Amino acid sequence: MCNKKTLYLVGVFLFFNAMYLIGSEVSKTPPAQEVAVSAELQEKFPLKNHHAKLSLKCADCHEGQGDEPENFQMIGDEGCLSCHKSKQYLADRLKFMDVLHVNPHNSIHDGQRLYCDECHFEHQKSENMCLNCHSNDVKIWMKDTP
Ligand code: HEC
Ligand code: HEC
Ligand code: HEC
Ligand code: HEC
Repeated sequence: MCNKKTLYLVGVFLFFNAMYLIGSEVSKTPPAQEVAVSAELQEKFPLKNHHAKLSLKCADCHEGQGDEPENFQMIGDEGCLSCHKSKQYLADRLKFMDVLHVNPHNSIHDGQRLYCDECHFEHQKSENMCLNCHSNDVKIWMKDTP
């Protein structure tokens, strides 16, 4: 049976699912302070695609670091986690990788103690620290570090 009411209910269901997924991704997207950023600086500090397509402003990440973009500093775990919730949350999202003990967010050696920037960079290609010792296995274990 596929009448208007079921269609409506399915629609509502999908809508709330979508809202739930969007809501669960990110706990907070702080409003950007307007800081003038030259085209040259934007080119010098390109964003990762996943952030560029959200049109993140410099100050979304470099919040409270003043208004001279050349003097911005690294943002550390706290900076990433201000939007990506917590290490526990990230570890849980890749929980399926725990089976082989290859969850980068819940390392077999270090648990959740690694710093984001042991693998992820924003303005340059990321590197995976597991490669330092497991150069042959990492590409089987996990995807490239986004
Ligand atoms: C101002 C908020 C904000 C900050 C700060 C931020 N992100 Fe994101 N990031 C997002 C949003 C929103 C998305 C898209 C939704 C999602 O996939 O979680 C995203 C997506 C990502 C993705 C892609 C997720 C996927 O499923 O492919 C990665 C990887 C990522 N961020 C890593 C980082 C790292 C590492 C840092 C710290 C250097 C960081 N982010 C800082 C908001 C932020
Ligand atoms: C040991 C290296 C390593 C460290 C440390 C690390 N990541 Fe990752 N991260 C990865 C890899 C590899 C992937 C892709 C995993 C896959 O899909 O195979 C990933 C995926 C992600 C994703 C997309 C998947 C998801 O859960 O949405 C986000 C967001 C992310 N990392 C954020 C972070 C943040 C924030 C930190 C610091 C708290 C961090 N990562 C620390 C290697 C790392
Ligand atoms: C998604 C978060 C994010 C956004 C948005 C962002 N940055 Fe960064 N920025 C970082 C991280 C993380 C680092 C540490 C180095 C790295 O990962 O590349 C950093 C480092 C820097 C540094 C210091 C570089 C160094 O070598 O010490 C400068 C300067 C900088 N960013 C400028 C900018 C400018 C200008 C913009 C806007 C065009 C911007 N950032 C947008 C996350 C971000
Ligand atoms: C400083 C070197 C080093 C780093 C970095 C490192 N490992 Fe290991 N890892 C080892 C050694 C040594 C062993 C034990 C010997 C063996 O079994 O290969 C091991 C064992 C393992 C094992 C179990 C044995 C196997 O090969 O299946 C897994 C899984 C593993 N590491 C995953 C990781 C992951 C994921 C990362 C990144 C988050 C990482 N390692 C980073 C040195 C390292």
